[in-house]
Amino acid sequence: MNHHVAHACSAYFTSPFDNATILIVDARGDDVNFSIFFAQGMQLQKVVSLSRPLNTPMFWEGVCVNNFKMIRKEGSEIAPWSHMYPSTGPGKIMALAAYGREDPDIRRQIYADISLPVVLDNMTEQYRFGGTYNWGQDLSDTRSAESQAVAAALQHWTNEDLISAMRLAAKFAPLENLCYAGGRALNCIATSHAFTRSPFKRLYVPPFANDAGIAAGVALAAYYASSPAARRPPTPFSPYTGPRYRRDEIDAAVASAPGLSTAPVDAARVAELIAAGKIVAMFRQGSEAGPRALGHRSLLARADLPGGRDRLNAIKRREWYRPFAPIILRERAEEILEQVIDESAYMNTSATIRPEWRERMSAVAHVDFTTRPQLIRRHQEPYVYEIVERVGAATGVPAILNTSFNLQGPIVETPKDAVDCFMCMAVDHLVLDDVLVTRA
Ligand SMILES: [Fe+2]
Repeated sequence: MNHHVAHACSAYFTSPFDNATILIVDARGDDVNFSIFFAQGMQLQKVVSLSRPLNTPMFWEGVCVNNFKMIRKEGSEIAPWSHMYPSTGPGKIMALAAYGREDPDIRRQIYADISLPVVLDNMTEQYRFGGTYNWGQDLSDTRSAESQAVAAALQHWTNEDLISAMRLAAKFAPLENLCYAGGRALNCIATSHAFTRSPFKRLYVPPFANDAGIAAGVALAAYYASSPAARRPPTPFSPYTGPRYRRDEIDAAVASAPGLSTAPVDAARVAELIAAGKIVAMFRQGSEAGPRALGHRSLLARADLPGGRDRLNAIKRREWYRPFAPIILRERAEEILEQVIDESAYMNTSATIRPEWRERMSAVAHVDFTTRPQLIRRHQEPYVYEIVERVGAATGVPAILNTSFNLQGPIVETPKDAVDCFMCMAVDHLVLDDVLVTRA
């Protein structure tokens, strides 16, 4: 199946819409990087599919490797980050951009460099030509004003470029609903910036907007093509598609590590611990599809945890400038955030925290007071919703900090992964389904 058709199916068939314009933007896939589809009922129709010469996602990848030196060295082989840590490099530059000042000269240089074609050396997949800012200038010092200004200029370019893309999509397929996917859709700042300036009324970005969604897209396309009578399931799409683990697997994982005690746990107890200032590693039921932890493989804490950002960045060994995101009760979102985008259940849009909430959301506010919320409705995950609701009742803040449960590597999947990761991390408690694990 064509790569962009799979992206489009992953976005549309998991959306709440009966019709939509679909926009796909990524670095490359089956020789195209930009597609527009029109969807009505169960039918998708391709409107435009092309390879744009100004390949913004590819340029980001090149800048990660060539300028910010985000390269993992393993043995003698040097592999670009994109093959080892999909999507984490551009996410870091997006975070750094909030620190950068506006600099017209740097913006001009970005615009000049991005117009050079990116050429890959197939032997090493290094970005030899193009995909480089100012001839490979070293920007790896993320505390330097220049590195931050380059990140800001790149983000600015990306915001503006996506506005054009969304407006073009609206011209070709003028519907009110927009489904948006492709690796570029992980840039939640650009997504929100462009969507709020587009003619579209509603936005949906799937939890697996990047290539993680291709398998689901192929499966959904095959399902709907297999029977003309196929209809969408009566219950909305859930991102918790991973396998569940049995109680004996959980018990074996706990037994594998020394000095752990266990007790029963429910949402009320988790909320109590979080409200008391504890950091809780959460492992419940099936894991989330896509790159974001949405409460099943998450570290949870108060949204106003003192020194929360720096503490958690140290615990997870992340870069100093990276922010954390909250889960917020959907019906309280407008109180806390400016410009709420309705379907933001998967941490793929961005909004600004209102001034009167910034102190109470201190651990999840970025330096420019933006945040990337998971807006939760009760039916989407009743247990996680209850935790946030109870924390809100106890503390007055109907939001909690949510970050992925991992240490540099992939998000934990099995109970054994969870216990191993917990043993390496300075967090207070671990929840394994209905078992609360604590260091004795
Ligand atoms: Fe893709």
